[in-house]
Amino acid sequence: MAIPELIDRLVANPKFRRFSAGFLPFRPLARRRSKTLFDLMAGFVHTQILLACVRLNLPDLLLERPRSLTDLISLTGLSEDAMIRLLKAAIALKIVRRRGDLYGLGPVGQDVANNAAALSMIEHHVAFYADMRDPVALLKGEVPETALAAYWPYARQAGGVTENSASDYSTLMAQSQEGVAEEVLDDYSVKGRRHIMDIGGGDGTFLSAIARRAAPDTKLTLFDLPQVAQTARDRLAQNGLADRIETVGGDFLKTPLPKDADLITLIRVLFDHPDRVVAPLLTAIRGVIAPDGALLIAEPVSETPGGERIADAYFGFYLLAMGEGRVRTLARHKELLHAAGFSKIRTVSSRMPHLVRLIEARP
Ligand SMILES: C[S@@+](CC[C@H](N)C(=O)[O-])C[C@H]1O[C@@H](n2cnc3c(N)ncnc32)[C@H](O)[C@@H]1O
Repeated sequence: MAIPELIDRLVANPKFRRFSAGFLPFRPLARRRSKTLFDLMAGFVHTQILLACVRLNLPDLLLERPRSLTDLISLTGLSEDAMIRLLKAAIALKIVRRRGDLYGLGPVGQDVANNAAALSMIEHHVAFYADMRDPVALLKGEVPETALAAYWPYARQAGGVTENSASDYSTLMAQSQEGVAEEVLDDYSVKGRRHIMDIGGGDGTFLSAIARRAAPDTKLTLFDLPQVAQTARDRLAQNGLADRIETVGGDFLKTPLPKDADLITLIRVLFDHPDRVVAPLLTAIRGVIAPDGALLIAEPVSETPGGERIADAYFGFYLLAMGEGRVRTLARHKELLHAAGFSKIRTVSSRMPHLVRLIEARP
């Protein structure tokens, strides 16, 4: 038997586990491993404690000012016993911190308070949590209609989105896009571009951020499904950007893409789709991009060192629940880009590679 398998058998032996917990030199490692296991087993409880804090508005209440127990009982409507139980749990999870007789924000609470994107993700996870109830059924494709597929209808029906679904998901998308847009643009310069087209541009948050940075004569085009493009058009008009950003409605698999952009962006678009959608989309982009142009892909990438828990564990299952999307490795992105006719492909270093990697491809 090979050494790794021998080690597996040894460590998985209950007698050895008992021995290593008691044997002083092994004890720190044994404790760490037992805590890691417990954290994994208990993760759903931690998530629900965070949800309780958010639903009771604790992060924002404690951002206003540290509060006493009596104050928090009257603000949340919980009994004293329940309030103390929740506060103890929230302190353990670093959502709340004790400040003398008062309760204030812990580091996690500080990151969640006043953070519309995080708050809506936490609430959105109620739907994802329901889909994950039987993970084996999900893996076997035996969950007939997942909550996430209903939430993101385009993921199951490339080429179609129902009338009211566009506005349903636009809020979540917009709230998370704000932060992503700024991060991408801090890492990737759009200076000197003549025409920038954002495909799958959602409500226009990314192009609005570009409008604040690019030269006034840079042409800006948003391409998205017709209903989403209409939502973007309305929102851009409200923000006085209707003349600055052109919106084009269509299905990127069926509608000819506008020509000659010298920067085309796909921000969190490809991972929603299987290769049979991504390959023709990249080919269509290669067909219209200016000869000196670049395609910029921004999304989580599989096997990113330090990002595996987000890309492979979280998004791997999120996209499964949503439909047929997948998080791709860099190597797979390159294969698809080469096959579509792009030759110069590079990664651009990004500040938060565990969340979003940047891949640039040129003809
Ligand atoms: C996850 S959202 C990302 C939106 C935005 N880029 C962001 O980062 O927030 C994916 C976007 O792709 C658009 N999309 C999906 N399928 C499409 C299709 N067949 N044609 C055009 N756009 C599509 C969706 O409407 C949605 O706006």
